[in-house]
Amino acid sequence: MALVNMTQMLLDAKKGKYAVGHFNVINEEMLKGVLKASVQKNAPVIIAFAEAFEPLIAIEEFAPMAISAAKRVDIPVALHLDHANNIEYIKRAIDSGFTSAMLDASALPFEENVKMTNEVVALCKPKGMSVEAELGHVGGLEGYPEGYGDDFVYTEVEEAKEFVKQTGINALAVSIGTVHGVYKSEPKLNLKRLEELNEALDVPLVMHGGSGLTDDDFRNAVARGITKTNIFTDLTIAAMNALKNTKENVYLLQCVDVVNAVSAEATKKIDLFGTANRA
Ligand code: 13P
Repeated sequence: MALVNMTQMLLDAKKGKYAVGHFNVINEEMLKGVLKASVQKNAPVIIAFAEAFEPLIAIEEFAPMAISAAKRVDIPVALHLDHANNIEYIKRAIDSGFTSAMLDASALPFEENVKMTNEVVALCKPKGMSVEAELGHVGGLEGYPEGYGDDFVYTEVEEAKEFVKQTGINALAVSIGTVHGVYKSEPKLNLKRLEELNEALDVPLVMHGGSGLTDDDFRNAVARGITKTNIFTDLTIAAMNALKNTKENVYLLQCVDVVNAVSAEATKKIDLFGTANRA
């Protein structure tokens, strides 16, 4: 199946009350693991590459590998740029063949976030790409702060309505109590705020910082309108454990173990998000 953008995928998820897994991958093993799980589960999937991965592999090197792998499988795959905070980087994603992009201007004042988001929409939409933006602020990307709670701001309902009205986005990342990376203390989702946001907005809602949440957290979030769930850290932990536990001191076999470990972790998430057999 051809590469697709996220637009229809997320509208279908909203209608069907499930969430599409957004899996951040940084190399070939992780990419293969996520695709393997998605094919086995017959699930649509979002392969995500974050601007923060650039020092590990340039987006221009990553994109051809992901695009050719995606074209060889028979499920819908979106290739999404995650957490870009500058327009130049988004242009590199466009030129590399990405089908979707997220601008994270959530640290900027509302008006500047709107203005920059609209610039991204104007660049991406004519290329057939979907656009995600963030309002409120999901912390953790700045270096895993000690004080969980000081670093994020819940998304305000009225502000979100205005933001969606003023921008042409396809998905909105909301801040409801999750943080990127490993949680320093038990996460507590603001489900009431999520319900209010879902009630007030038609646009598909995205939950960042999915790793470390309980199964019930995911079920509760998906039941209240989350249609895209972002996962990175749990995949890296699965990969790291596979490397630690491997019996073989042969690099090739270690790679196979990593693919399988990432695949097993992605499979768990796909089952939890209700995405199996939705391709
Ligand atoms: P985690 O690393 O906490 O799973 O967060 C991933 C994420 O939100 C990427 O945008």
